Amino acid sequence: MKIGFKLNGKNVEFDSPPETRLADILKGSAKIQSLRTSCYRGLCRGCSIFFNGDLVSSCLIPAFQARDAEIVTYEGISRLNEIEDILKGFDDTGYEPCDYCRPGKIMTLHSILESSMEPDNHQVLEAFEGINCSCTDLSTLLSSVKAGAYYRRRRRRDRNS
Ligand code: FES
Ligand code: FES
Repeated sequence: MKIGFKLNGKNVEFDSPPETRLADILKGSAKIQSLRTSCYRGLCRGCSIFFNGDLVSSCLIPAFQARDAEIVTYEGISRLNEIEDILKGFDDTGYEPCDYCRPGKIMTLHSILESSMEPDNHQVLEAFEGINCSCTDLSTLLSSVKAGAYYRRRRRRDRNS
């Protein structure tokens, strides 16, 4: 069946069996390189996308549900100026996600900062459940989120002044 949706601002259409997982269409036909698919159970969150504005695991979405949806991947959000806030937070605190998990972590952080510019530790830890790897200690993660949130608040303040 033909399945059309908006992908990173462009209208696209793919021919696919309706039960195919969206993650496979994005990785295969759409050639989205940032997606990681390990578990196919919504646990690792490497396949995170914004689906009509919500951060979701694309491995849990059957292709037919994507019809007419607005989908943004890491390739889409990495063009936003706001992502600089997150990257500055990483630099300030020495948080260095590897290339494998970096897209999913930046997507998750962006989602947190879109809903709150002063997220508390509980919110962060809940959002990072499943993707917080043992390469980084929790206090560095939390410090980097706080630093990113500070830059995001400053950006909004400057924009409104
Ligand atoms: S592949 Fe692990 S959450 Fe989608
Ligand atoms: S898996 Fe990427 S930093 Fe740990």
